[in-house]
Amino acid sequence: MLTLLAPAKVNLSLEVLYRRNDGYHELRSIIQSLSLCDRLSFSPAKTVQISSDSPDWQAEHSLVSKAVALFSEKCGQGRGVNLTIAKRIPLVSGLGGDSSCAAAVLKGLNKLWGCGYPRWRLMELGAELGSDVPFFMMGGTAMMEGRGETVTPLPTLNQMWAVLLVPEIEMPPDKTAALYRNLHTDSFSSGEISDKLLEDICQGKLSYSSCFNVFEKIAFTLFPDLAKYRWQFLEAGAYQIFLAGAGPTLFTLLKDKNMAEKIYHNLCQKGHQAYLVSTLGPLD
Ligand code: C5P
Repeated sequence: MLTLLAPAKVNLSLEVLYRRNDGYHELRSIIQSLSLCDRLSFSPAKTVQISSDSPDWQAEHSLVSKAVALFSEKCGQGRGVNLTIAKRIPLVSGLGGDSSCAAAVLKGLNKLWGCGYPRWRLMELGAELGSDVPFFMMGGTAMMEGRGETVTPLPTLNQMWAVLLVPEIEMPPDKTAALYRNLHTDSFSSGEISDKLLEDICQGKLSYSSCFNVFEKIAFTLFPDLAKYRWQFLEAGAYQIFLAGAGPTLFTLLKDKNMAEKIYHNLCQKGHQAYLVSTLGPLD
């Protein structure tokens, strides 16, 4: 049996440069993977069977089954797999769980079926599945550009602690597309915010003032309940709160583990769905 971890991520910066002619948006984003991981187990089988321990997770609506179908078409005709997923990353949370699992599926089947595709080819296939998938082929700290398919690994951040607060807000199924649709040209930026953050990271530091998410304003408008969660996060002791990707998860980053634990416990006491995790370097 082969087991792979599929980590969650947050965007430390997420800038949209402009709207492209193909309808997508040109991005510049620095992404960081987290120690909160789904776990995928692959074993040989005659047919394709996919299951998970999460009652709310449906294989047919996930990128996982799309990844299996795509990889079968490219390399695994007639081959099977028994794939089980221990889901730990909350669904539709902005933490990239589905994309990360899709990347792990491509990596796992490549090994299980002995296809020997190089990483760049797996990244190409990943980009066919979704804009965030190529990043998860390596994880760690990376700059993401283009539609998401251009990923440049960056020096690994010194370990930091992240507290995640997952609001109980129902998200529309096309949440990400809806956020992009609602962006105005005045939300676009030049990429300088990510460049500044990149400079900080290369010097081994991370300054909160350089963190940025283009969706933040629009998410608080489209999902007004987010403000209530933000307020409760502040009350729990956090002072720099960011939106994770397309949300609705909110997060704070800290160097001090004791402080992170305090905030995490305060949130749990109030009955929130919260996680205390650390930043994670690249997976092999
Ligand atoms: O690539 P993915 O399927 O994750 O994208 C979901 C939606 O987000 C796309 O249909 C598109 O509307 C939007 N998107 C975009 N520009 C990007 C990535 C995604 O407009 N770079």
